[in-house]
Amino acid sequence: MTKMLLTHLKPGMKLAKDVYLDDGRLLLLSGFIIKPMYIKKLKLFNVPFVYIREGEDIPESEVCEEEVYREASRNIERVLKCVRDGKDIDTPAIKDTVNAIVKKVLENESAFMQLTGIRDIDSYTFLHSLDVCIYSVITGKALGMHRKDLTQLGLGAILHDIGKCKVPLEILMKPSKLTEEEFDIMKQHTVYGHDIIKNSPGLNETIASIACRHHEKWDGSGYPMGLKEYQIDIFSRIVTTADIYDALTSDRVYRRKNLPHEASSYILCNSSILFDPDISDAFIKNISIYPQGSVVVLNTGEVGKVLKEYRHMPERPKISVIACREGPPVLNPYIIDLLKAPDTFIVDILSSY
Ligand SMILES: [Fe+2]
Repeated sequence: MTKMLLTHLKPGMKLAKDVYLDDGRLLLLSGFIIKPMYIKKLKLFNVPFVYIREGEDIPESEVCEEEVYREASRNIERVLKCVRDGKDIDTPAIKDTVNAIVKKVLENESAFMQLTGIRDIDSYTFLHSLDVCIYSVITGKALGMHRKDLTQLGLGAILHDIGKCKVPLEILMKPSKLTEEEFDIMKQHTVYGHDIIKNSPGLNETIASIACRHHEKWDGSGYPMGLKEYQIDIFSRIVTTADIYDALTSDRVYRRKNLPHEASSYILCNSSILFDPDISDAFIKNISIYPQGSVVVLNTGEVGKVLKEYRHMPERPKISVIACREGPPVLNPYIIDLLKAPDTFIVDILSSY
């Protein structure tokens, strides 16, 4: 164990001790891999040093995944702002972003799984686009799509809500339920999105169609055209599934987020109703609900890191308890296997770390 001044701390190092603030609040947990955003957080709270485990640095490629994600989020935020200001989509930047995501997912199917879902209400719009892109590309890969199609799918997914830039902000940000008239205006974002993409050099009709059809539903109950089943192209059917899952697992102005296993149940319950059954199946089998390393809170107040996700019951992973919400830190982490502990269940996922 080494005492490491913040000035010498680097991404990839592993924390050897929990980091507490002077007022007793827990900031970071022992065992966390240092990422650029943690260094920023430590600086923000004026933490002078931390303890690092020696010889346990993780490969740069894994830290690099976070860099791809951060660069992608900056790009999509910029693109959305440009379109809102009436400028063109920066097609080369958005293509670079999608190519980088497709490359990472092709290398490793669980790429980005610990990064998706980390957002607050303010960053919802652009991180939602990015996470829908990641989930869609992972699902497309699971369905056997090749790189060229994955790129089209990723571009359509990342730009699926671009038409919202043309919806008045008072409707877009309204904290309460929309009136019927307002909802009709909101629905137009699909058509606006299609027009924006169609008129952007370097983007094509396949990508524009995804923006147009991402609210169509398997049973024909969606909009804007009420298409059903295979009348909707496969790219749009994938993006619809990813869009709903990601929206359900996000905090919104008007409601609290659902837990990942609640959102996945919703997808499965609506398979063959709202969603293409083959796609919902591929989606649920390939998206990590509680990825290894994610930090969850149990109904007992214990805080634990996910050690292993069971494919047949992803909502009940094996957990290493590392802290308690109340009381002193756990000095010797212990294991709870939720498969064997029927009275214990996950009540929250800590996404702020
Ligand atoms: Fe949408």
